[in-house]
Amino acid sequence: MKVIALSCSPSRGRNSDHMLGSFIEGMKEVSTIEVEKIYLEDIEIDNYNFENSVGTMDHETKFKELTDKIKNEITGLVIATPTYNFSVPAHLKNFIDRLRFIALDMNQKNSIGQPVGKLRHIKTYFLVSGGTPAWAEKILFFTFPSFWLRGVFLYFGAHVMGAFYSGDVRTFQNKEILNKCRRKGKIYAEKLVRGSRQGILEHIFWRPPQSK
Ligand SMILES: Cc1cc2nc3c(=O)[nH]c(=O)nc-3n(C[C@H](O)[C@H](O)[C@H](O)COP(=O)(O)O)c2cc1C
Repeated sequence: MKVIALSCSPSRGRNSDHMLGSFIEGMKEVSTIEVEKIYLEDIEIDNYNFENSVGTMDHETKFKELTDKIKNEITGLVIATPTYNFSVPAHLKNFIDRLRFIALDMNQKNSIGQPVGKLRHIKTYFLVSGGTPAWAEKILFFTFPSFWLRGVFLYFGAHVMGAFYSGDVRTFQNKEILNKCRRKGKIYAEKLVRGSRQGILEHIFWRPPQSK
């Protein structure tokens, strides 16, 4: 089973990158899981426009490799990101905008006229760092990336297995939080192996409209 772990902060070796590193350590405790860590900033991706909406451009070789893997090879996708202005860094936002051609079937519409998601084979997990304390994030959850990322990937038809937020701006030195990430990585990997369904919250509240 293959998992892609995407580190999406422009600041390597800082908070969300460390959270992902620990999560990967946990996943690797489950021997049948193969993990590939990718720094999103290493992937050249043009901004979305009408011309590139149906596929990758000739010069976007690494982006093509990545989208091919997401489409054909992986079972799991883990995204680690900081919170930037209530959202995600621009490169991650653009990556998600560009995923459209593998993520949505524009020829099929669901019951509310939206395109149908094509990433049903993928189970996602989100690791988010921010400068706001975790208790405040719990109340203002809708102003943080995990809320938005869950929504987008459910729209894309993927399963959402969960998300974890750290509000410590020195998470990269916080052994307690990093240990939690490691444990969560192990549990996520075990769920992939067992073929578990998505989290209960997603199942009850987030079920996207189904195709006709
Ligand atoms: C441009 C910018 C915007 C930010 N916006 C928010 C925000 O809206 N909410 C928040 O809680 N933290 C915000 N932060 C703080 C970062 O999310 C926080 O420092 C995080 O731990 C950085 O993660 P990283 O080390 O993985 O890049 C912002 C930081 C920057 C640089």
